[in-house]
Amino acid sequence: MLVLGIETSCDETAVGVVEDGRRLLANIVASQADIHARYGGVVPEVASRHHIEAMVGVVRAAMFEAGVERKDLDAIAVTAGPGLAGSLLVGLNTAKSLAYAWDKPLIGVNHLEGHLYANWLNPVAKEPPPPEVPELPAIVMIVSGGHSELIYVAEHGSYKLMGRTRDDAAGEAFDKAARVLGLGFPGGPAIERAAREAGPKPPRLPRAWLGESNDFSFSGLKTAVGRVAQESEAPVADIAAGFQTAVCDVLTRKAVRVAEATGAASILLSGGVAANGPLRTMLRERSPVPVWVPPPVLCTDNGAMIAAAAHFRAESGRAGLDLDVRASWPIAG
Ligand code: KG4
Ligand code: ZN
Repeated sequence: MLVLGIETSCDETAVGVVEDGRRLLANIVASQADIHARYGGVVPEVASRHHIEAMVGVVRAAMFEAGVERKDLDAIAVTAGPGLAGSLLVGLNTAKSLAYAWDKPLIGVNHLEGHLYANWLNPVAKEPPPPEVPELPAIVMIVSGGHSELIYVAEHGSYKLMGRTRDDAAGEAFDKAARVLGLGFPGGPAIERAAREAGPKPPRLPRAWLGESNDFSFSGLKTAVGRVAQESEAPVADIAAGFQTAVCDVLTRKAVRVAEATGAASILLSGGVAANGPLRTMLRERSPVPVWVPPPVLCTDNGAMIAAAAHFRAESGRAGLDLDVRASWPIAG
């Protein structure tokens, strides 16, 4: 099954082509990060306009890269939500138009499910995938600019929400902390880079454990970063490192605790923040079960993960041309 996947839920115009949910044939991402950096965050109206300008070119580039023609495709998949409504609409209407014009089934995909299935993709482009896949049941931790969720995946398509953020998402915390420290946008890569220059004793920043809850809270940490920056002599690199360690500590401890409590056979990481090196290392060191993390290009928003998810959702995800965007769409209750 050859699927073209379209993703426009936030600020990347992205299209991927994937065979049987695992073989990556193309993954083209037109990022708007430079444009939004000027404003210090994603401006929804600006994002939708740029999606419109980039969309057709990105579809063409992905088909060219994959070496496929429209007749080869079995389905068109698209992120229907959650995300910015105006941005989602551009991808959705493109997908509907292609499905109609080329007479292909349309599959609506939940963005979070896309992040989950990034772990099934073979990162080596064009190569047939190796036989190993993540073992289920699994805990997936999705950490991005809009999400911090711990989800129990009993089997394909069966999810239970185990924990989520009560305020800022993990990526949002990185972005806000970077802003406070004057490190630019997006904050995650900027903080990770700055933290590499830190001295041996970075300040210890507070962790919000929330008792026995599996939920997260990161808004206090942002305030703490501001306070330490104002009141101490600590260099920016040290504060960045203290912040990064605090976020990674909370994320990994809760992921491991939920995995142990549920008897999960693996932990899967995904979302933009999963690109963070120290987070990947800490989770691998602490997890009692195998940890799967996609390469950074497949952690951040992309169309290949949407095409991959569509393969595992081929029947239940099939939609008519009246498919609408769902700006908020929980993956599970
Ligand atoms: O998944 P994604 O591309 O878009 C959303 O769906 O939100 O995630 C973007 C988020 C941003 O908040 C960005 O700062 C964060 O992921 N991020 C990182 C890193 N790379 C991206 N956070 C920490 N370390 C990184 N290396
Ligand atoms: Zn995302």
